[in-house]
Amino acid sequence: MKFLIIGGDSEIGRELEKYLLDINHTVYSTTKRPYTENKIFYDLLDPINIEHPEVDVAFICAAITGYDKCDADFGLAKEINVNCTTELCSKLIRNNIKVVYLSTNAVLETPLSIYGYTKARAEKNILELSNDSIIVRTTKVLTKGFPLFYNWYKDLVRHEPIKALADLYFCPVYIDYLIKSILLILDKKEKGIFQISSYPSISYYEAAQHMANTMPRSQNLIMRQTNPCLSEQETAIMNTDRFEKLTELPAPSPFVMINEWIKAQK
Ligand SMILES: NC(=O)c1ccc[n+]([C@@H]2O[C@H](COP(=O)([O-])OP(=O)(O)OC[C@H]3O[C@@H](n4cnc5c(N)ncnc54)[C@H](OP(=O)(O)O)[C@@H]3O)[C@@H](O)[C@H]2O)c1
Repeated sequence: MKFLIIGGDSEIGRELEKYLLDINHTVYSTTKRPYTENKIFYDLLDPINIEHPEVDVAFICAAITGYDKCDADFGLAKEINVNCTTELCSKLIRNNIKVVYLSTNAVLETPLSIYGYTKARAEKNILELSNDSIIVRTTKVLTKGFPLFYNWYKDLVRHEPIKALADLYFCPVYIDYLIKSILLILDKKEKGIFQISSYPSISYYEAAQHMANTMPRSQNLIMRQTNPCLSEQETAIMNTDRFEKLTELPAPSPFVMINEWIKAQK
């Protein structure tokens, strides 16, 4: 199969490209950074439409991500995440390319953040353009270079203490698990919305403790932190029944996802 990754410099896009190339697929990816070798220049804001190669599937990874960045400029977030993304997908779909849109559990949070709102609007528009499209809602993705975990890991290797929040929760998904899940959805010729998550949620403190427990002499290095503004903030838990039915397996434990991430660092 031939793939196009829109947003090849994104954390997920970079690792997706490497994974697909490693299993001998043809992959093209885009960048909005000047002079990047082997990449197609593409800025979603650019009025000139992308001249894309002939591919079977396009992954949409480019977006204004992060709550703060979306809060800082609602107009820009809406323009890029909704209007330009919809326009791009419309063109891809007209050219018979299957769209796989990377979305987030933030679309289920209440109250809805600007980030969640823009992602939800894009989801709706893409499904209206073609109900053959795939929307992959994922929780926090542990890319191999996930900065927070990478810094924790580095500090623990040096036996330095780390601080982790006990009142912030997440359901981490390891990048390879996410990619394999998407490839399975494609392979089974499925369409519509799929929710990918580990279960149950854990706090960042529990995650750090778990990481420390896998390393020698590190158990006492985790410092419990709390943030009164968070007050036991839960993450939006997603129902993964549809995906579990496809795999005939339950959602993985977050600790298994963290183990996979640790294994990849060695
Ligand atoms: N990472 C996660 O944990 C996670 C969880 C749930 C869902 N998702 C979704 O998965 C997708 C990828 O996430 P990510 O964390 O890998 O993203 P990311 O690292 O934040 O990267 C976003 C990418 O979008 C590009 N971009 C921004 N504005 C653009 C524009 N006008 N034209 C073209 N490209 C533009 C950026 O380019 P530059 O690098 O040049 O700035 C960047 O490479 C996003 O849609 C996100 O909502 C991610």
